[in-house]
Amino acid sequence: MAKILIIEDEAIIAKDIQLRLKKLGYEITAIADNKMKALAITETDVPDLALVDIMLKGKEEGIEAALEIHSLYDVPIIYLTSYSDEQTLEKAKVAEPFGYLLKPFVEKELVSSIEMALYKHKMELQLRKNEAWLNTSLSSIHDMVIAVDNDAQLTFVNPAAEELTGIKLSDCINMNFDDIFPLLYEKNHELQKNWLRKVLDQNKSYTLDGNSLLKLRNGEFRPVDGSAAPIKDKKGKTNGVIIVLRDVYEDRKAEEELKQSYIKLQNSLEGTINAMAKVVEIRDPFTAGHQKRVASLAFLIGHELGYSENDMLGLRLAAAIHDIGKIYIPAEILSKTGKLNQLEMSMVRTHPEIGFDILKDIDFPWPIAESVYQHHEFLDGSGYPQGIKGKEISECARIIRIADVVEAMSSHRPYRPAFSVSEAVEEIRAKRDILYDPEIVDICIKLYDTGELERLLNPK
Ligand SMILES: [Fe+2]
Ligand SMILES: [Fe+2]
Repeated sequence: MAKILIIEDEAIIAKDIQLRLKKLGYEITAIADNKMKALAITETDVPDLALVDIMLKGKEEGIEAALEIHSLYDVPIIYLTSYSDEQTLEKAKVAEPFGYLLKPFVEKELVSSIEMALYKHKMELQLRKNEAWLNTSLSSIHDMVIAVDNDAQLTFVNPAAEELTGIKLSDCINMNFDDIFPLLYEKNHELQKNWLRKVLDQNKSYTLDGNSLLKLRNGEFRPVDGSAAPIKDKKGKTNGVIIVLRDVYEDRKAEEELKQSYIKLQNSLEGTINAMAKVVEIRDPFTAGHQKRVASLAFLIGHELGYSENDMLGLRLAAAIHDIGKIYIPAEILSKTGKLNQLEMSMVRTHPEIGFDILKDIDFPWPIAESVYQHHEFLDGSGYPQGIKGKEISECARIIRIADVVEAMSSHRPYRPAFSVSEAVEEIRAKRDILYDPEIVDICIKLYDTGELERLLNPK
């Protein structure tokens, strides 16, 4: 039950109140008949409420005591008075009393005043706590939080918004939102109009255009993300709008830097792969440009298959070094004009495995080593080195296989002249679904029909 301090100099009245309150279950911390005593008691035992007689010993000591107890200890006050002198009451108001009881009072009045005061005080504390929590949250938040009323005039701006815009909350209250926070379209720097009005009129939340700029007072532009939500009362009526804006300048900068570093990394990866490809071609001048053209054709096929840009890049890079394993094969075998003997042939056939060995420890974002390993496998299992079949062969390797055959046949070799592109296409068409993936063969035929294959393999 609540603890009550009685500050009353008329002993009989004080005793009477004490008895009555005790009977009702309240705890009485003390009866004080002067200010000093009241303050001393409060210091050691803070009550939940003080009943204070305005006049103590003919002076306004009660008011003074109430003021101090209220301001120092946040104790709610109920005045007891037999005076209705307006001037005195005016002074008493400073202590923000929760009620007045005019002597003599009945028990019912006493109880209802006390309960009302305790309840109001509790609610006030809760409200203050909520306000403090909200203020701390809004102050510590990095996003800009802005509130406007129904006329789009500013009613609140948090410290993050003050900092970015360089304008103090006190200086912009009642100013128009657009005057302090002009939001522009990034593409043409035109003001985004009417969106705030729509939130107010339609009572619906709104997400800012993804490419918005906030024009600062110093003329700078800041990219911002954000949203706005109507402030609704209990009946659902709009009482303004809360706008949250986030400065995404640093995010955009970091994004751009990441993009640039990715491009750089990709370029250096491509550069490395091209350098590796050149190593093979320097030793094997007859096939110079072979890997490059196979890579271009594989890239076209990947595109026709609907590959993503990233997958097409992986495919192109794998194709660009598919014969990397040939650097272990003696140059005289690679450039031999006559037919290869069995030993020489078996040496040549080691190149997919050697290629795999060279590449397997490099952590590419694509399975490049595997594609190189499988690029001489045939659909029916008659290829090498593993003799795997059908879908056991990765799609990337199946593409490189076909691009490799078509390119090689259309190129001149020391031991034979070049076939025409149509003859090369005829070869894969004849072995469609036997040695070669039917879907990829069909794409090659389509590329041949459109003339793209010819342009790629025999550029004028
Ligand atoms: Fe090869
Ligand atoms: Fe090849």
